[in-house]
Amino acid sequence: MKVVVAGSSGLIGTALVAALRRDGHEVTRLVRRPANARDEFRWDPARADLDERALRGADAVVNLCGAGIGRRRWNGSYKQELRDSRIVPTDVLASAAAAAGVRTLVNASGVHYYGGDSGDRIVTETSPAGTGFLAGLCRDWEAAAQPAADAGVRTILLRSAVVLARHGGMLGMLYPLYFLGLGGRLGSGRQYVPWISLDDEVGAILFALTDDALSGPVNMVGPAPVTNAEFTRALGRALHRPTPLMVPAFALRVTVGEFADEGILHGPRAIPTALEDAGYSFRHPTIGAALAATVGRS
Ligand SMILES: NC(=O)c1ccc[n+]([C@@H]2O[C@H](COP(=O)([O-])OP(=O)(O)OC[C@H]3O[C@@H](n4cnc5c(N)ncnc54)[C@H](OP(=O)(O)O)[C@@H]3O)[C@@H](O)[C@H]2O)c1
Repeated sequence: MKVVVAGSSGLIGTALVAALRRDGHEVTRLVRRPANARDEFRWDPARADLDERALRGADAVVNLCGAGIGRRRWNGSYKQELRDSRIVPTDVLASAAAAAGVRTLVNASGVHYYGGDSGDRIVTETSPAGTGFLAGLCRDWEAAAQPAADAGVRTILLRSAVVLARHGGMLGMLYPLYFLGLGGRLGSGRQYVPWISLDDEVGAILFALTDDALSGPVNMVGPAPVTNAEFTRALGRALHRPTPLMVPAFALRVTVGEFADEGILHGPRAIPTALEDAGYSFRHPTIGAALAATVGRS
């Protein structure tokens, strides 16, 4: 396949591009700086500027754009940046994919589509959107891809959980603390922490690109959901470190702000119904297996 990838320099994009090339696919990376390699094509998503030649002859587009959700404390202008950096590029790529006759669009979204208010209830792709800033963002982000689906492009919406990688994302931040024996549960520990290994995130994107039966929202989550307390114990076990601490909810709210409630103290108990129904086989089906492969010490 010829695959065009936007947001290719990030955690998922870097691993995905490597895997696509390993499997013999041709990759073009859309970059927001001047292009300086033959596989790069410059675009300016903030100005909705994409040369129509960028998608010419492409079989698929994968859009992984977005400013970091937990990277800065949320204020009005950062929330706007979180929205603009996802919804505008999606809008541009969905229209361009439709116009270019691309067969498949794989677009990032997040499992926080379901919000944090679902408690212990299991959520699948047919569950309704939740409430809160992140849920609203995911809903509008997915809606921006709709013009592609309306034009007959097979459109897949990746409702991704926390992607577990040693060198980035949430685990990249927690790893040094746990390594020093400073790990512990966050708040009550009863909230769910949706997770997926980076290998499975990439594996499931490759699967989605090639399995024509899959379309629409896809929960990108490991098949065995865990609570924060279970996640904490599993990470301690993988690193052979104690996890004696507990960070109270109020301390998280003071230090992290609004993201504490939406991204840390609440999380949906999501399961990967669409992937499992389509026959995707998880490389890391449990949190123990995912953490052992990612940060495990023997
Ligand atoms: N990692 C996770 O745990 C996780 C979980 C749920 C959802 N997701 C979503 O999946 C997507 C990819 O995740 P990731 O972890 O690979 O993210 P990442 O490492 O933060 O990379 C995102 C990429 O988006 C592009 N980008 C950054 N700021 C931008 C802006 N203002 N406007 C347009 N593009 C911008 C950059 O690529 P270029 O510089 O190459 O343009 C960046 O490398 C994101 O949308 C993220 O929200 C990730």
